[in-house]
Amino acid sequence: MVDINTHIDFEKIISKKGFLDLEVDPTLDLFAEIEKLKKEKNAIVLAHYYQEPDIQDIADFIGDSLGLAQKAQSTDAEIIVFAGVHFMAETAKILNPHKKVLLPDLNAGCSLSDSAPPALFKAFKDKHPDHLVITYINCSAGMKALSDIICTSSNAQVIVESLPADQKIIFAPDKNLGAWINKQTGRDMLLWNGACMVHEIFSMEKIIKLKVRHPMAKVIAHPECEAPVLALADYIGSTTGILKYAEKSNAQEFIVVTESGILHQMQKASPNKTFIPAPPQNTCACNDCPYMKLNTLEKLYLCMKYELPEIIMDESLRAAAKKPIERMLEISAKLGI
Ligand code: 13P
Ligand code: SF4
Repeated sequence: MVDINTHIDFEKIISKKGFLDLEVDPTLDLFAEIEKLKKEKNAIVLAHYYQEPDIQDIADFIGDSLGLAQKAQSTDAEIIVFAGVHFMAETAKILNPHKKVLLPDLNAGCSLSDSAPPALFKAFKDKHPDHLVITYINCSAGMKALSDIICTSSNAQVIVESLPADQKIIFAPDKNLGAWINKQTGRDMLLWNGACMVHEIFSMEKIIKLKVRHPMAKVIAHPECEAPVLALADYIGSTTGILKYAEKSNAQEFIVVTESGILHQMQKASPNKTFIPAPPQNTCACNDCPYMKLNTLEKLYLCMKYELPEIIMDESLRAAAKKPIERMLEISAKLGI
């Protein structure tokens, strides 16, 4: 079959648009094509739980941020295709400098990551030289390079607890996760003022109303939510934690306070249970992460076919960003998380 796209300047499209916006033959079975490309190229598709259902179904591994970083570290595939957002693919590249790491759409950013520009953070850090810096993985490589230890929502609490009680700590960039960890551990970490646009938008009032209508429902929430919303929760944890809780719980109904993509795996694991997505403050679909949802099956297919867009990093930045990620992975491995 002749490839009609042979003479297209792919690099130019990527530099302008951030993804390959080529036409895809609508009669193609994209699931079969992606499977074929995986085998031909020795590629692995890693997907976050917030990806659209089709992408989750074609992925080789679905996970939370920690699980994905661990899988990126251990895979022997030659190409890592990251169906997630930029900081996740960048983390995979930091851990695998000699592998090709692809992201279907380079515009898949993260509001939390954007809330911590490295230059501003450095000025803040320099004012507190006696503090150790723990940074949530949802940040740029520049932020990681300024950090002592990276954490995710799965291991933030144990990482903080692994440090001496009198150790002064700056926690960035998520103020909500930081405040929750302060509450759980009794620490007084200095918090950077960042937040996730998806998790900040849940309405406490609407969740209370839902609880009145569904009194037996368990409220399960991600720690990126604000404190008044977390105060309503029966369980707080990472996306993997929330999924496991919903699967093991005897309850039949759950009010799910995180990005809506997670419902796909919940329904698959427990088809007889009812999962109610928590409503945002207005009528928008704000519990969909607009960045996560930039990835589509078509973009995934094109990205694997043409091996673009690729994550490219400056080597000195990569090496500096690797140290705090490795520290996190070592602590997690030691604690069996
Ligand atoms: P986890 O994957 O650690 O649960 O974090 C959720 C998230 O917002 C990722 O962007
Ligand atoms: Fe970032 Fe929030 Fe989207 Fe996760 S859900 S990628 S934290 S904006």
